[in-house]
Amino acid sequence: MKFTESVQFDHPIIQAPMAGVTTPEFVAASANAGVLGSIGAGYLSAEATREFIQHVRKLTDKPFAVNLFVPEEMNMDEKLVRRAYEQLQPIGEQLGMPSWETPFSAPCFNEQVQVVIEEGVPVCSFTFGLPSDDNVLKLKANHVFLIGTATSVEEAVLAEKCGMDAVVVQGKEAGGHRGSFIGEALIPLKELVTDVVEQVQIPVIAAGGIADKEQMKSMIDLGAQAVQIGTALLATKESGAHPLYKQSVLQASEGCTELTKAFSGKSARGIRNQFMIEMKEDKPIAPYPIQNDLTKKIRSEAAAQNRPEFMSMWAGERVHETEGGSVEKVVKSFF
Ligand SMILES: Cc1cc2nc3c(=O)[nH]c(=O)nc-3n(C[C@H](O)[C@H](O)[C@H](O)COP(=O)(O)O)c2cc1C
Repeated sequence: MKFTESVQFDHPIIQAPMAGVTTPEFVAASANAGVLGSIGAGYLSAEATREFIQHVRKLTDKPFAVNLFVPEEMNMDEKLVRRAYEQLQPIGEQLGMPSWETPFSAPCFNEQVQVVIEEGVPVCSFTFGLPSDDNVLKLKANHVFLIGTATSVEEAVLAEKCGMDAVVVQGKEAGGHRGSFIGEALIPLKELVTDVVEQVQIPVIAAGGIADKEQMKSMIDLGAQAVQIGTALLATKESGAHPLYKQSVLQASEGCTELTKAFSGKSARGIRNQFMIEMKEDKPIAPYPIQNDLTKKIRSEAAAQNRPEFMSMWAGERVHETEGGSVEKVVKSFF
């Protein structure tokens, strides 16, 4: 698979960027297994992004991508934020936290773009929106291959117009956050790939519920140039997922995932647990990224206390097909 002269990899597979899960060892193992590794840098500071890139470089000389979260305009409704926080308190109490600090994160997207350029990373992918013209021009002037994320034909067309060199189309089956930036499309991957390849000229990368070589091949037959796999790699030894999250993935049954906004304010697919059930009934939820900041301490405390019922365990619809082992073993199973 060839994106540019400097970005070539053996198999038409991208290891999905998964913020919080993609360790340097995971990205390097993916690159070394012949697929395009991706750093999920969405929650990192600019300096942490730089250190991560340098760490991966020590483990592989293969190309890899950095994935960034495009920041969104957001109106802070203080009353709603207070009500959303109060709603979370019974869950905090179950973790021994009657109250907790909720420092709000500041976006550092422009600084991360600068790091990608300074570190000479050859591929940069985006989710939750598209980068500004300035950033596109800057990255392209530095020969960075750009990949957008779309969940509808409309978003894919905009990604191409904005200068993306390829587009990941994310079907409704996909694990983790939805990359939607116009409305909230939930389109099955087959349908989405079929429609998008007719409407854009740039390479289409299919993502969502691709768990084996047959599904990969069916996407390529529909016109996708590559696939992006996330959940299939979640339980590997190199993955940074919490051990109990990996266990839930390996024990998952069909139909165990659902979409929720309760962890972050943005729609994401994960394994149903007590947090998702308790937060279901029309509870007030702050917009992304505020809700994410409000629940941060709950998630970290749940991880520290080994309480998967309160962790965010993002996973796609085919999670019940996931197996453990190494990244190399999973990649090989696609061939
Ligand atoms: C744990 C997890 C974290 C994710 N984090 C990101 C992310 O940081 N950036 C991104 O663009 N997509 C993210 N995604 C979505 C994946 O890139 C990809 O679209 C998805 O995993 C494909 O569906 P699958 O999980 O069924 O293979 C995440 C997915 C999972 C499962």
